[in-house]
Amino acid sequence: MSDAKAHVTDLIFGRWRSQTLYAGVELGVFDVVGDHPTHAVEIADLLDIDRGYGYRLLRALGSLGLLSETSDRRFSLTPAGELLQEDHPESLQAVALLEEGPTHYAMWKHLPDIVREGGPNGRQREFGYTGLDHLEADPEYAARFHDSMTSLSRMESAWVEVLLSEVGVSGFDHVCDVGGGHGHLLCTLLQDVPDVEGTVLELPSVVDAEDQHWHERMGVSDRVTFVAGDFFEEVPPADAYLLKHILHDWTDEECVEILSTIRESAPVDARLFVCELVVPGPGHSHLAKLMDVHMMVSANGRERTESEYVDLFETADFEHVETHQVEGVPMSAVEALAV
Ligand SMILES: C[S@@+](CC[C@H](N)C(=O)[O-])C[C@H]1O[C@@H](n2cnc3c(N)ncnc32)[C@H](O)[C@@H]1O
Repeated sequence: MSDAKAHVTDLIFGRWRSQTLYAGVELGVFDVVGDHPTHAVEIADLLDIDRGYGYRLLRALGSLGLLSETSDRRFSLTPAGELLQEDHPESLQAVALLEEGPTHYAMWKHLPDIVREGGPNGRQREFGYTGLDHLEADPEYAARFHDSMTSLSRMESAWVEVLLSEVGVSGFDHVCDVGGGHGHLLCTLLQDVPDVEGTVLELPSVVDAEDQHWHERMGVSDRVTFVAGDFFEEVPPADAYLLKHILHDWTDEECVEILSTIRESAPVDARLFVCELVVPGPGHSHLAKLMDVHMMVSANGRERTESEYVDLFETADFEHVETHQVEGVPMSAVEALAV
């Protein structure tokens, strides 16, 4: 097969792989299969699934490199499969459940119509919600969504630490993570800077889910506070603000509203760090360009280029300082100054 044909075939069958992985996660395969080879029948009985179909799914998961199979139908986890266990410290299980689960799957099928007609997004077409209003309306979906965000944060907080390693947060008195979820990023950044305090601003349902918050687990509960609010109305005062995966959910007009709300509380010289997948120019293959399609499907926002962020800043009285990028880290931190 030519390289081009192999490439296209690979892309066409990509869904088979992600749906097979999802089925394994949904059925609990990765939490039952361990390091020692276990027979397919035993695994099927533990999971209460059909023995014949179960074996075929395990074999396919083996073919994807997530399980290792012996010649007598015994399976154990590979290092990649371990990442799909619930209690792995860097678990991606919640991401798989959200991104390949039935809710997002149903939204994606509308993509050709969304593009043909210029919206509305797939969430609205399928479920009637315009965007993140879905979270307040559907607690089960919200739990899956927030678990996935925290799961991604386990990877992304480390990226942001690297991106901000030169700036650091030790020079600030108070850092506010606007829409900061369960607080993984903020608590990570404040762990080693004992003089800095922080606030996570979130929707009331996220603030109420105290058992999910990270401040106690990371030993910063005396310095990190969770505050319920609406970033279109008011944010707490701080001299540094974090916005990770926030602006990409919203239209330009809504982003200017969010930034202007922050600017009302931010003193002159306060810093803003927008942590997003910044869209590079043509010729660069980048996750940002696919995440942008996911934004068409799931919300009314978009991924943006650096100059698009600079324009948003200027409209809301912020000035672009620099864009922090590090080789091998897909995320950027676009830094701005309150003027
Ligand atoms: C895409 S998630 C990003 C979460 C977190 N920053 C991260 O990167 O993991 C967007 C977050 O914004 C929060 N959110 C949505 N609308 C909000 C609002 N009006 N005020 C405050 N938080 C909001 C959601 O609850 C959600 O946690």
